[in-house]
Amino acid sequence: MTGWIPDADALNLFTGPRLQWPLTAEQLIDMELLDGFSAWIAVDEELTAVGHFDLTLDHRTARLGRVIIDPEKRGRGLAHALIHLAIARARELDADEIQLNVIAGNGPASRTYERAGFTRHPTPLRPGVERMFLAL
Ligand SMILES: CC(C)(COP(=O)(O)OP(=O)(O)OC[C@H]1O[C@@H](n2cnc3c(N)ncnc32)[C@H](O)[C@@H]1OP(=O)(O)O)[C@@H](O)C(=O)NCCC(=O)NCCS
Repeated sequence: MTGWIPDADALNLFTGPRLQWPLTAEQLIDMELLDGFSAWIAVDEELTAVGHFDLTLDHRTARLGRVIIDPEKRGRGLAHALIHLAIARARELDADEIQLNVIAGNGPASRTYERAGFTRHPTPLRPGVERMFLAL
C-alpha cells in the first residue's frame, strides 16, 4: 500500500502531517499501538488489496483516517463502497459518531464523504483542513 503514495503531496492528502515522507510500513505498524486503533484493507474478488482506512475509537467517537484507493482503481466508485465499509465497522465498534479531517480542495474525498452523509463543521481544524462529521 505504501506504493500507492508517490510523493510528499500525496502523503499529505492521505494522512496530513501525522506521518513522514517517505512513508514506510513501519510507520503504519507503529500506529497499531494507539489505543482504540484498527486498520482495514478492502479487497476485490481476487483478494487483491484495493483500498485502506483506519478507525480510532475515543469513547464513542470513531476517527476515520488514512482513506485511500489504489491509484489504478480510482474513478470507479470504489471510494463510496469503502466509506460504507468504514461506517459499518464504526457501528460494530459501537461508535455513535464518525469524525474525519480532509484537506480543503480534495474534491474526490469531500464528495465521497458528502455522498455518505457527512457534514462539514463550520470551523476548520486549521487553515486548509476541514472537519467533517457523521452521526451514526
Ligand atoms: C479520495 C479517493 C479515496 C477517492 O477514490 P475513488 O475510488 O477514485 O472515488 P470514486 O470513484 O468512488 O469517486 C468519488 C466521488 O468523487 C467525485 N470526484 C472525482 N473527481 C473529483 C473532483 N476533482 N472534484 C470533485 N469530485 C470528484 C466522483 O465523481 C465521485 O462522486 P460521484 O459518484 O457522486 O460522481 C481517492 O482519490 C484517493 O485514494 N485519493 C488519495 C488519498 C486521499 O486523498 N484520501 C482522502 C483522505 S481525507
